[in-house]
Amino acid sequence: ELGPYSHFMQKEIHEQPRALTDSIEAVIDSNGFDVELFGDEAAGTFRDIDSILILAAGTSYYAGLTAKYWLESIAGLPTSVEIASEYRYRVSVPNPRQLIVTISQSGETLDTMEALKHAKSLGQTQTLSICNVQESAIPRASKLVFYTRAGAEIGVASTKAFTTQLVALFILTATLAKQRGVLSQAQEHEMLEALRQIPASVQHALNLEPQIREWAKAFANKQHALFLGRGIHYPIALEGALKLKEISYIHAEAYPAGELKHGPLALVDENMPVVVIAPNDALLEKVKSNMQEVRARGGQVYVFADLDSHFGESEGVHVIRTPRHVGLLSPILHSIPVQLLAYHTALLKGTDVDKPRNLAKSVTVE
Ligand code: M6R
Repeated sequence: ELGPYSHFMQKEIHEQPRALTDSIEAVIDSNGFDVELFGDEAAGTFRDIDSILILAAGTSYYAGLTAKYWLESIAGLPTSVEIASEYRYRVSVPNPRQLIVTISQSGETLDTMEALKHAKSLGQTQTLSICNVQESAIPRASKLVFYTRAGAEIGVASTKAFTTQLVALFILTATLAKQRGVLSQAQEHEMLEALRQIPASVQHALNLEPQIREWAKAFANKQHALFLGRGIHYPIALEGALKLKEISYIHAEAYPAGELKHGPLALVDENMPVVVIAPNDALLEKVKSNMQEVRARGGQVYVFADLDSHFGESEGVHVIRTPRHVGLLSPILHSIPVQLLAYHTALLKGTDVDKPRNLAKSVTVE
């Protein structure tokens, strides 16, 4: 069942080009963002909404944080993202015109299910589930459903489910923008093209595995690591830190790079490896200067850049370049190296990669 791979996690990381291809198939086949993709009732539901609230846990929550950038900048819809277990116990102001989007790989996460029930009890009945398991509890309790087609994910650390959630959320963004009349034909074409190319770009990123395996040696003997990103790549820094924590048991934290000087910079010395997600986006120059703050304190910097971000290696600055910049889908591409880094670090430490201690694949308890 594992084929040439040592663990399900490694296999699932490598299945991503296929998982992404399957998850975007319907869009590519119809050559556009058709509202029907979200079910018969989607057209009416999407017409009435004025904002979005995303509810999820763990990695699925980070997919939601990424989507906020797309939904606000492309579809113009105010979007909040909340941890399911927090939302369900807080007094909030219900808005019946808000679309509740739950994201869950398993569709059985109790915290997310209860958050959905709580939203419905407040009269928030416009609900959409993005899920990887057909007919599981959360999609069954939702008005609209979009299934990702990652295939069964066995490793406790979510990988292919995450990147397929991201494409689902990108498709949702384009569909909502189109329906609201804010997506030009040129933009629609650009978004379709970005989707078409993502499986091949991800395959190129997977080919970086030997280089990343080398880097893992510098992490396996450390107690702590810091992950930095800005803007739409900050959630990818969060995801990278979570992956490393989960399977290698190394304490890792993620920060938006601009926050560094507001506290965490005090942690940085030569024993703190700092991973920086730095593709060529609008914030690149800011990220570069944040990186200098780390270098000035002796921190070793490990940069995941892309070919367009023109990073040179220098003393204490290690760089791996993913393929050319993939624009709006760049967070998907940059998920790959952080997954591989966590995987190879855990491998060197000899932890149980597929079943890390204290964790379950599907968290059906509170
Ligand atoms: O099945 P779900 O997407 O609802 O699961 C949510 C989290 O439990 C899950 O993403 C968890 O954080 C993963 N182990 C992360 O790798």
